[in-house]
Amino acid sequence: MEYPKKLIEVALPLDDINFHSVKEKNPFLKNHPRALHLWWARRPLAAARAILFAQLVNDPGGQRGWGHKKGQTKSEAQQKRNKLFQIIRELVKWENINNEEVIELARKEISKSWIETCNLTNDHTEEFPFIWDPFSGGGSIPLEAKRFGLPVLASDLNPVSVLIPKQARLD
Ligand SMILES: C[S@@+](CC[C@H](N)C(=O)[O-])C[C@H]1O[C@@H](n2cnc3c(N)ncnc32)[C@H](O)[C@@H]1O
Repeated sequence: MEYPKKLIEVALPLDDINFHSVKEKNPFLKNHPRALHLWWARRPLAAARAILFAQLVNDPGGQRGWGHKKGQTKSEAQQKRNKLFQIIRELVKWENINNEEVIELARKEISKSWIETCNLTNDHTEEFPFIWDPFSGGGSIPLEAKRFGLPVLASDLNPVSVLIPKQARLD
């Protein structure tokens, strides 16, 4: 079956993701969900947001097994990739956490990639598949998936962890 490579398989602006993930550890940051409960292995929201986005958007370079996209040079693909990087660079900033313009741009790219993938695999585009985090812990991944407006399922062995997303109104 032909299906596209995802951006995360090709490249990521790691320096930016890391920089903003570290900044998020500032204990004086207001309205961070860790204030609900200090979960020991909570992943930074910036990293969860960036990784989800990079897993959901297609890499512009070409499809798996096809080689490069016909009619597109490597440098054209890189330019498109840079645009996706720029979205990630804005997405990871704490000050953009409620910036609808930035989040909407990301949602549009996710939706565009989903339609492109469905067209390749002859799937229906109507229902986006659930994002399931079976080890949701402090809830970073489900929270960020919700921010993108995606259908989400979260579960965990630990009842405290089950309570955190409920408190954050993720249920
Ligand atoms: C590393 S933490 C996840 C952290 C989470 N990604 C976050 O950002 O907060 C791993 C989680 O897996 C859960 N866990 C471990 N074994 C499990 C199992 N067999 N079934 C379900 N959850 C499990 C633990 O309770 C813990 O919350």
